[in-house]
Amino acid sequence: MSLLITGGTGYIGSHTVVELLKLNKDIVIVDNLSNSSTLVLDRITKITGNSVKFIKVDICDEHALNTVFEQNDIEAVVHFAGLKAVGESNEIPLDYYQNNVSGSVTLFKVMAKHNVKKLVFSSSATVYGENNTSPLKETMATSATNPYGQTKLMVENILFDLAKSDEQWSIACLRYFNPIGAHESGLIGENPNGIPNNLLPYVAQVAVGRLPKLQVFGDDYDTPDGTGVRDYIHVVDLALGHVKALESLSRISGCQPINIGTGNGTSVLEIVNSFKEASGQDIPYNIVPRRAGDIATVYADASVANDLLGWQASRDLNAMIADTWRWQSQNPNGFE
Ligand code: NAD
Ligand code: WQD
Repeated sequence: MSLLITGGTGYIGSHTVVELLKLNKDIVIVDNLSNSSTLVLDRITKITGNSVKFIKVDICDEHALNTVFEQNDIEAVVHFAGLKAVGESNEIPLDYYQNNVSGSVTLFKVMAKHNVKKLVFSSSATVYGENNTSPLKETMATSATNPYGQTKLMVENILFDLAKSDEQWSIACLRYFNPIGAHESGLIGENPNGIPNNLLPYVAQVAVGRLPKLQVFGDDYDTPDGTGVRDYIHVVDLALGHVKALESLSRISGCQPINIGTGNGTSVLEIVNSFKEASGQDIPYNIVPRRAGDIATVYADASVANDLLGWQASRDLNAMIADTWRWQSQNPNGFE
């Protein structure tokens, strides 16, 4: 039996594939390579000594997905494939709805047709919207402030309906907080196309000299140093959360939302200072006005993950920054 990993050549997918291969799981990756490259596959083999089956497939292509399920004995799916840039989603919302929502519905239909009803879905803390106070709990109201967030919320709601309609489904909706870091080997990591939107890849590219200066979006928030506070989580801890979620699916009935965060908040300036220290590089920055849509403080109540999955994050901020820097400095141009 194999695990199907959609989006498995991407940032979080590739780290999860590594952890699953270490457990000798049989893996089939499908990815359309819209935001990744097959170069990661050799790196995965280098880390684990195991190889992985890759099939270039777009999850919107029902026929191709059907063939994947016909030709492989799939027991469960981890569904990472999706577009993820908040700013871009405001510019091309229909692409986001088509790719993330229609693509997911197509995948779920094909899964149901082949009687595969175990699923781990990549959701996001973005579904908590802007009206809740941290620590964020799974029982809080959800909302979305941009098309990307809407797609995550819509897919969650589709999954709640699906699980209600058929009790054979076991679904873990993992709500990630802010994934950062890289595998400790320095062989795989985040490799954004163009100018990064997220803080850590931006800081890393300033440190390595690819970008001149960081812009810090606001220093007048109601936080200890005035800059935004987030719950950064090491991507390997996040990957291990997927391993635990897969192991726990037999105990989950219906669709269960689960926060995957550390429960700790870190400010933008704390990140900049830690990065400076770990890399020995200067990180020049300007304070600029707040970015539209940002809120002051976001961090998780991660107790459901602990209770239900037996999972908790174990890598601290120093490890997250050191591993980001190792990946960036050893691969200044990503996988190329
Ligand atoms: P990523 O872009 O590195 O990986 C996503 C992968 O999906 C890419 O390899 C891309 O080529 C592939 N893909 C996109 N559309 C596809 C399609 N239609 N068919 C097949 N493959 C497709 O992103 P990531 O950071 O690894 O994120 C993985 C998932 O986690 C996404 O669903 C994302 O929304 C979610 N998520 C990410 C973050 C984050 O900050 N990185 C936070 C919360 C949730
Ligand atoms: C972190 C902090 C910024 C860039 C986003 C998505 C969320 C999830 C994770 C997918 C904030 C500040 C950033 C910069 C800065 N993704 N910042 N200068 O916004 O918390 O979450 O990624 O699901 O949905 O919204 O992450 O890394 O963009 O920002 O000052 O150049 O860094 O204001 O306080 P965010 P981020």
